[in-house]
Amino acid sequence: MPQSTHRFSVNGARVEIFERSSDASEFAADQIRGLIQSCLTTRGKVVLGLATGSTPEPVYARLVEAHQAGSLSFEKVTTFNLDEYYPMSPLDPQSYRSYMHRHLFAKVDIPPHQAHLLDGTVPEAFVNDHTAQFDQWIKAGGGLDFQLLGLGRNGHIGFNEPSNLPIEQALKLSTRIVELHPMTIADAVKDFGSEALVPRRALTMGVASILEARSILILAFGERKASAVARSLQGPITAEVPGSLLQTVAGQVTWLLDTGSASQILR
Ligand code: GLP
Repeated sequence: MPQSTHRFSVNGARVEIFERSSDASEFAADQIRGLIQSCLTTRGKVVLGLATGSTPEPVYARLVEAHQAGSLSFEKVTTFNLDEYYPMSPLDPQSYRSYMHRHLFAKVDIPPHQAHLLDGTVPEAFVNDHTAQFDQWIKAGGGLDFQLLGLGRNGHIGFNEPSNLPIEQALKLSTRIVELHPMTIADAVKDFGSEALVPRRALTMGVASILEARSILILAFGERKASAVARSLQGPITAEVPGSLLQTVAGQVTWLLDTGSASQILR
């Protein structure tokens, strides 16, 4: 198992820095595998919050390898994904539903009714009911044992975008429909082909459900994430940098970084 080259804590959060992002991904997959096994042993079930984006792809590849090698089953795993574009067909290759199908769900033994994503086809008039229900599903499942997170260049987590809300309100944000931030839209052009094709809105798990996860693993790689990482870890806690809200539950959070994304952390 690859080991981090530097391990320290920042404002109570554990930080592990790896020479290569592939090492961090292997480490993450091993942590998730261990967590699944220990929850299954103690409780007979496990509830995971999952992320999309380019960052977790190698993590899913490792989990699929473990499944194919016979050392990991998803039969008793329940998952809730962070977000989905709106509106969005599940069959669109750019949907997060189809991303999850491609990278994980179709390659492991998870029962379909245990793999939950927000639905980008819900009629507009029922979106608020749907997002409120999603939070209820998580609660009814006993809450998230674990949340996997990536980090936007603007510090977003899921699609909880920067805002000027007071901190107390930002911490209570529920699952909801949001407008995407210009930087998020710009970063999505690589997936959608042109800015005009990027959806302007999305459904996202709220900050409250994310922070209630019993453990959180956040991955960020490359220099383009360095500023968002440093501001999330060491900046003031503010809704302008949603990643900084993780400082309020720092004891549950582990940051897996590479030398690029860790380059602006002050030590
Ligand atoms: C996307 C997702 C986030 C993800 C982030 C970073 O928009 N909604 O959940 O963490 O942006 O993406 P990437 O890993 O491709 O840099």
